[in-house]
Amino acid sequence: MTMRSMAVWTIQYGLSGLGMRIGSRRGDLISRLVADPRLREDPFPAYDEIRAMGAMAHGSFISATANYATATELLRSDIFQAGPTPVPFPRLARLLDAVREPRALSVVDPPSLIAISAPQHTRLRRLVTRAFTARAIAALSKRVEGLANELLDRIEATNSGTFDVIGSYAALLPVTVIAEILGVPAGMRDLFRELGDDVALALEPGMPWRDYRRSDAASRRFHAWFDEHIARLRREPEDNLLSHMIQAADGADRLTDTELRVTAMLVLGAGFETTVNLIGNAVPLLLANPGQLDRLRREPAGWPNAIEEVLRHDSPVQFTLRIPREDAEVAGTSLPAGRPVLILLGGANRDPAVFPDPNVFDTARANAREHLAFSSGVHFCLGAQLARLEAATATRVLFERFPDLRLDGRPVRRGNRVLRGYTHMPLAPQARVGVEP
Ligand code: HEM
Repeated sequence: MTMRSMAVWTIQYGLSGLGMRIGSRRGDLISRLVADPRLREDPFPAYDEIRAMGAMAHGSFISATANYATATELLRSDIFQAGPTPVPFPRLARLLDAVREPRALSVVDPPSLIAISAPQHTRLRRLVTRAFTARAIAALSKRVEGLANELLDRIEATNSGTFDVIGSYAALLPVTVIAEILGVPAGMRDLFRELGDDVALALEPGMPWRDYRRSDAASRRFHAWFDEHIARLRREPEDNLLSHMIQAADGADRLTDTELRVTAMLVLGAGFETTVNLIGNAVPLLLANPGQLDRLRREPAGWPNAIEEVLRHDSPVQFTLRIPREDAEVAGTSLPAGRPVLILLGGANRDPAVFPDPNVFDTARANAREHLAFSSGVHFCLGAQLARLEAATATRVLFERFPDLRLDGRPVRRGNRVLRGYTHMPLAPQARVGVEP
């Protein structure tokens, strides 16, 4: 690791991590949400407390909202700069830009879509959008269902009884689909899954140095791999998203190679690091509600709404950050320019003003789809339709193929705070004979 990496970490993560640890020790709930591992398993009571503090709550170094209306307003506002790890002080932000290495940029650094604004954002996003229109996604539905069945065939063939639904199914389905969309060889998917987990650490505000080293090393490997792959696709173009982006880059749209690599990394990572959580989070919720699962089996048309309810109830992305570019007035309180605001998507999705009995999981909830799990405004998730299709198909096919599925041990949660999901979830395909389910 170079001095430059150390400087980048200090500015981007180290200082905010220190601030949040100090705030946490002082009992500031907003800092604790980020810094205290005890709030990771079940952050929902803390979200309720923050909502009770007001539509906009202020902690020592950071403000937060778990109020649906205020969260929506902030996500749609032009005044607020997006970016999972924004730096509040302009001088430090400029220094950070100067020390960042183009071949070590992570998915949260500009020019990643989630960290840039118009007009660069509009130009880059337009190039990727074509691959993710509703029509383009609908055309993938047979492939997704075929893949779900292939993966379950493989699980059945191993015949070992218990299987880890995350490793052998929920993660493999989205990584295969997004690799095919982008034109990344299937043989690379195990490596990408491993690197993707490390790259995703970059989303965590206040990430510790040891995690930064893993995340930074993974980003560098992605850059090196994409460098070679892009060069090959330039020589031998193919019919996939990356090849189309390269043609656009070399044509009128004039994308730089850095923009190409970072966009490809973001789409690849976002394409599976989140959907694995959605599929995984759905399983225990449905197993804990057998009446609702039976209804879905009888009326499979209900699956898409069931997935919206999983997105609302156990949001795979729990929060995002925004920073006001200028002094702003929100929900009757003032926010000075540069003040970081945590938008608690998972908390806004449990706001009783919008979702009655918000802690109840109800796959037939009439307005489940109004959740903010995919954000709102110009950064609204580009892959939302794909994620919906993958999760509705993956869960329906899983429960059709294994009607007596049950948990065979305690599922293990991921340690991340932004991404909420499981790393392992042992399932047994059949009920044990003579044992009460
Ligand atoms: C359950 C699955 C998913 C969830 C919960 C999710 C959630 C989100 C959220 C919350 C944001 C916006 C963050 C912000 O406003 O700061 C976002 C942006 C994004 N997502 Fe997803 N996502 C999912 C799946 C996917 C998939 C499958 C793709 C694949 C293409 C994808 C690609 C992106 C991209 C490229 C952006 C950046 C868009 C922009 O800034 O313009 N996501 N996602």
